[in-house]
Amino acid sequence: MRFDDRVAVVSGGANGIGWATAERLLDEGARVAVLDREPHAAASQLEKRAVVDASTSERTAVFECDVTDPASVDDAVAAVLDRFGRIDVVASVAGGDNAVDDGLDEEHWNAIVSLNLHGPVRLIRACREALIASKGSIVMVGSVNGVAAYGEPAYAAAKAGLTLLAKNLAVELGPAGVRINVVAPGTVRTRVWDHQGGPDALSPLYPLGRVGEPADIAAAIAFLASDDASWITGVTLPVDGGSLAGPLATMSRLLPN
Ligand SMILES: NC(=O)c1ccc[n+]([C@@H]2O[C@H](COP(=O)([O-])OP(=O)(O)OC[C@H]3O[C@@H](n4cnc5c(N)ncnc54)[C@H](O)[C@@H]3O)[C@@H](O)[C@H]2O)c1
Repeated sequence: MRFDDRVAVVSGGANGIGWATAERLLDEGARVAVLDREPHAAASQLEKRAVVDASTSERTAVFECDVTDPASVDDAVAAVLDRFGRIDVVASVAGGDNAVDDGLDEEHWNAIVSLNLHGPVRLIRACREALIASKGSIVMVGSVNGVAAYGEPAYAAAKAGLTLLAKNLAVELGPAGVRINVVAPGTVRTRVWDHQGGPDALSPLYPLGRVGEPADIAAAIAFLASDDASWITGVTLPVDGGSLAGPLATMSRLLPN
């Protein structure tokens, strides 16, 4: 129960990795505020959970929030503080791409960077004072696309930006007792792969022989957010079944002899 008496904000908490993170933090005792632009989906997840864990409704709240809109983020965080009075953990999970590589198109870049890089900045800015008061912790969800070239330059550059955002804020906020880290997932089984018939065709690219599950990423987020990681800040942790360990070696195993 690493998060007893702690309040966590999870952006993008209605689905996929964000929902798995919300569940993991709830399992470990946290009170959880889910911020998402799909509040009904979040409410329905929480209703289902309440059937097996009656404490869910008193320990959770859903706030409609679009992380691309600064006023929406400020309003949602103010509502979280109104409801719970403190913020100890920020899990910035909301993000994604549109699975279209629009090259260097202006509108595409603005949209992707606003969601994946500027979105976390807006959330951190809104939570900053509360995190300093609680000596809290921030975990942002990046991607292996932000570590090596897997395609989609706008998405990749935005996710890569999180690494230097974390390093700089780690230095700035460390003296106030606030930590900030990034997890960089490989392929994870969420709805984003539905249109491609699921992610399993990519399993051979993973030395550990499978793609990731949302719970794999949630476990790493919970670790970095917890006191178990109390001397870790400013890092980007790949959670990727080994895909970044040796991409060429992995691919060479798949070539015919
Ligand atoms: N699934 C993967 O293979 C994978 C791999 C690496 C990184 N990621 C990253 O993990 C994160 C979660 O992705 P997922 O696969 O769970 O996707 P998902 O679509 O299942 O969940 C994303 C959640 O974010 C919310 N969201 C999207 N835009 C938002 C906005 N503007 N404001 C507020 N909420 C918003 C959605 O409503 C949804 O609930 C993203 O940042 C994504 O880039 C995913």
